[in-house]
This record gives sequence, C-alpha cells and structure tokens, in this order.
Amino acid sequence: MSKFWSDVVHKLTPYVPGEQPKIQNLIKLNTNENPYGPSPKVIAALQAEAADTLRLYPDPNSDKLKTAIAEYHGLQANQVFVGNGSDEVLAHIFQALLKQSRPLLFPDITYSFYPVYCGLYDIEYDAIPLNSSFEIDVNDYDRPNGGIIFPNPNAPTGVPLALTEVEKLLKINTESVVVIDEAYVDFGTESAVKLINTYSNLLVTQTLSKARSLAGLRVGYALGHKDLIEALIRVKDSFNSYPIDRFAEAGAIAAMQDKAYFEETRQKVIASRGALIKGLQTLGFEVLPSGANFIFAKHKIKDGAELTALLRQKNIIVRHFKTPSRIAPYVRITIGTDAQSKTLISTLSELLSDQ
Ligand SMILES: Cc1ncc(COP(=O)(O)O)c(C=O)c1O
Repeated sequence: MSKFWSDVVHKLTPYVPGEQPKIQNLIKLNTNENPYGPSPKVIAALQAEAADTLRLYPDPNSDKLKTAIAEYHGLQANQVFVGNGSDEVLAHIFQALLKQSRPLLFPDITYSFYPVYCGLYDIEYDAIPLNSSFEIDVNDYDRPNGGIIFPNPNAPTGVPLALTEVEKLLKINTESVVVIDEAYVDFGTESAVKLINTYSNLLVTQTLSKARSLAGLRVGYALGHKDLIEALIRVKDSFNSYPIDRFAEAGAIAAMQDKAYFEETRQKVIASRGALIKGLQTLGFEVLPSGANFIFAKHKIKDGAELTALLRQKNIIVRHFKTPSRIAPYVRITIGTDAQSKTLISTLSELLSDQ
C-alpha cells in the first residue's frame, strides 16, 4: 500500500490466476490448458515469423487474423474483434458495453474475473444464483439490467447450457447486450455463434488458449454485430494499438486454418474426459455434467480443500475455490492425457484408502 496509489487501486481486488509452478514434472491439472501442444503448422508459422520484420510494428487492425476467424465461423471480418487473450477482450467488453445505468447480471458461481472487471470499471452488478443443480435458469435473468454475461459451458462448474435456452434468453432480453463467454465451447457445448446474424445484441467470445492449445500465445476474440465490434475497437484504440503481435497473428491464423489438428485434439480430450469421470465415480466422486476440458467433482467424504492439498503433496495440481461456500466441497480438474488421468486415479485411490 502507498499514499501514491489512486483511489481505484486502493479499492481493487485483483483476480488470482491458478498457479504456474516453477518446478518441472508436476501433473498440472489446474488451469485448463490443453495437454497436447499446438498444431505443427502453428509452430512452423511462428518460426517463419522470427525474422527481420520483427523490427516493424504489427498490423494494428490484425486484418488477416480477423479474416481467418471470420472464415472459420462463416461471418464477415467486421463482425470480429481480436485481443491479447479473451481476458483482454472481456475487459474491453465490460468497459465498452456492460457499464450502464442498470446493474450487469451474471451467475453467483461463474468466472471469477467478472466481478474483478466490475471493480476496475466501477460497474454495478447482481449475482444471480445458479439452481440447485448448478444450472443457469434463463428465466431468472428476466429483469431490468445493463447487460448479461456468463460462460457457456459455465466455469468453474463445466455445466453447459443448451442453445435453445440461450436463444430463449435472447428473446426475453432485447434491450441490453448478452455476452456468452465460450472459452471452453469446443469441448462439447453448443455454440451461440449461429445466432449472431439474428440477434444484434449478442456477443460471443472465444479463445485460442484451450481447444487450440495456445494459452501461451494470448489470442482471444469476440464475434457479434459490427456496431458492437466498433465499440470494442474504439476502446482498444484508446488503450493499446498493437495488442496482437506478429507472432500471435501468424500463429493464430495457422491455428484457425488447421481444422484437422483441432478436431483430432479436441476429440481426444473429450474421450479422456469420459474415462476420467468414470474413474472418479468409481472412487466415490460425484461429478457435474461437463461440456468443458475440465470437470467439477466432489468426494462423498473428503473435502475439496483437503483433497487439493493431498494431491499437491503427490505432485498433482488441481484447483480449489473456497467461495461461495456451495462450491467449497468441489475440486476442479483439468482433463490431461490418459496417462495423467491414470496417475491421478491411482493416486486418489491410494489417498482415499489411507484414511
Ligand atoms: C470462462 C473463461 N473465460 C475466459 C478465460 C480467459 O482465457 P484467455 O485469456 O486465455 O483467452 C478463461 C480462462 O481460464 C475462462 O475460464
């Protein structure tokens, strides 16, 4: 703390990301990274970019990347906004579109960065409780609001919401922006991208950090009506002209274009998820339905914090959330390789039989 801090800084409660350990050989199942590396075509594109041209600034508008993303999704390039990870894209969305005179709505259990952005931009919000099955009931959002945002599948639960429900919400809520954060959508959740040309207040965000194995490259994007995109461009151009560097643009284009590799790795993760869920259930875990590359599980006896600590002693990192208290019994486990799942299950089996 310092007297030189602004009032805003004094009031901030920053987001705390999952641990990125400095030691090797840990089984790292705590930040929902992909266990498989990026496409070899991405690596080749990055290597080609390591050239004399790095002395030049990148394209401030990332036009080629926007075109590649638009082509992938069957949209126009002016319906695409790109940023330094979807976290940056979300930050601009909060400032450009969700700061209104009425409160923003999001679930009580959701991506914990949302209340942090509200603190940063001084946005009033109401947290709407998930139902007893940890699902979003869209009828609960039928009230005056300055915007609605939630991840689909939700985080940290992994529970997906059917596209019919998303569309129901868009029919109910026509007077404010609805943001669907689809960071994990490619692992088996229905995307709302196909509704973009019908609902001009719909904004969908996606990231290359998860299904495209590029958490280290930092590229995310938003898709929506061109007027919503223009608002984001106005904020971006008042903040940082070059959020996408030359490597990020080249690598991200190659990733969007290599559909075969994307398909292969995401299917592997989906298959491993099914096997891991079965293994955990055999050990007495209750696992929430997941449309993501992670699962949210609670043991019939052992508490989430204790399990997380015990696994850490065995060099396996999973994530635990203390609040709200309803999720404290759970652990969030990222889907790793089959070999990692096997080690996790055998370690848990030992830990649970030791008691
Ligand atoms: C729900 C959700 N949205 C967005 C993000 C941000 O991802 P990135 O900034 O890597 O694109 C994450 C990261 O874990 C997330 O869980």
